[in-house]
Amino acid sequence: MKIAPSILAADLLDLGGAVAAAEHGGADLLHVDVMDGHFVPNLSFGIPVVAALARRTRLPLDVHLMVANPDRLLDDYVAAGASWITVHWEAAPHLHRLVMHLRERGVRAGVALNPATPVAVLDDLLPDLDYVLVMSVDPGWSGQTFLPVALEKAGKLRDAIARRRLAVEIEMDGGIGPQNIAAVAASGVAIAVAGSEVYRQSDPAAAIRALRSRVEAAA
Ligand code: DX5
Ligand code: ZN
Repeated sequence: MKIAPSILAADLLDLGGAVAAAEHGGADLLHVDVMDGHFVPNLSFGIPVVAALARRTRLPLDVHLMVANPDRLLDDYVAAGASWITVHWEAAPHLHRLVMHLRERGVRAGVALNPATPVAVLDDLLPDLDYVLVMSVDPGWSGQTFLPVALEKAGKLRDAIARRRLAVEIEMDGGIGPQNIAAVAASGVAIAVAGSEVYRQSDPAAAIRALRSRVEAAA
């Protein structure tokens, strides 16, 4: 299981400290939530923050674009140092072209599905994706309650991926903590995003290690 701490929940005046804690805790990726105040009501950060993070860390930046018309700024995020980029199915009508564009630039390409979007919408695109991000909350804020429907959706995706012998990974985002991370892993998820459960703790590095040991204890 890869663990991707989400810096949205960190002290935004100390992003350097958030990066250091992720590295010390053995994080695999750093999850960066980009919100445009349009696709989602909230506004977070964008290209300059991604560039600043890329200068500070060797952790791959997993950039989750919660923005309308994500195709307009993709190359800027790639130039800023994003190595994984997720766009929302609900926000982009020309997903095939967009995914190809990312993969040609050596970026891992993922599509996110809101809780109300069925996994079947990805049937045709699945072979072209590096990963699918199953949202376990409605996007917009950290600290929301996990929606169990996400586990069923991940299970359906895992079965479809296995049946078609694809190498697509499943990521899950929202409300993940020690109480549910073992169930998340058991549903087929390979990458768990965790915001509050890492950065609202007094020792974020220890919180990452605790999440990982929950998964290992249940395996
Ligand atoms: C929600 C974001 C998440 C969020 C996760 O819109 O995409 O990445 O930061 O935070 P927690 O783990 O607190 O739900
Ligand atoms: Zn996210």
